[in-house]
Amino acid sequence: MDMITFKDYYDNTVNLSFTDHPFSHEPKHVWVLCRFRDQWLLTDHPRRGIEFPGGKVEPGETADEAAVREVFEETGGHVATLHYLGQYKVDGKGGLIIKNIYYATVDRILLKERYYETNGPVFFQTFPDHFDRDKKFSFMMKDQVLIRSLEKAKATFL
Ligand code: GTP
Repeated sequence: MDMITFKDYYDNTVNLSFTDHPFSHEPKHVWVLCRFRDQWLLTDHPRRGIEFPGGKVEPGETADEAAVREVFEETGGHVATLHYLGQYKVDGKGGLIIKNIYYATVDRILLKERYYETNGPVFFQTFPDHFDRDKKFSFMMKDQVLIRSLEKAKATFL
């Protein structure tokens, strides 16, 4: 099924695939690789550090709607286009988590006084070579989900 299996930063097993919803048609989590003009748009989470925006799908909401909402809440970014990229599954201590991965383009950013649960937008032209040792970055940026998803997004959209 074109699936990649590896361990994450916390040694949990991750399954990743860029096929159409391989693990669930109603995933409860989303993660969004955001592009604003010629830069990547991320957010600074007070505990976890810098990461692409994302979070939980709320009751009554689709995963796509959650992706758009999370981008706005965490970065102030307005999603212009949203593209499904793939899905991953993490078998962690707290149970099983399934996330949709998206690539989104943002056409404007509202600078706010406060951001829901984060310190707001952070921009990158390119990423450092070794996130894994950099405490500024969230654990979510430290496994193959990021590397593979960026490759996929670049190959498809950039
Ligand atoms: P809140 O309810 O948001 O406070 O958080 P929570 O820590 O319960 O969050 P969540 O249910 O999102 O995640 C539970 C655990 O799953 C985390 O502590 C991680 O170990 C793992 N997890 C969640 N998201 C990811 C992810 O994107 N990548 C990886 N590798 N693990 C994740």
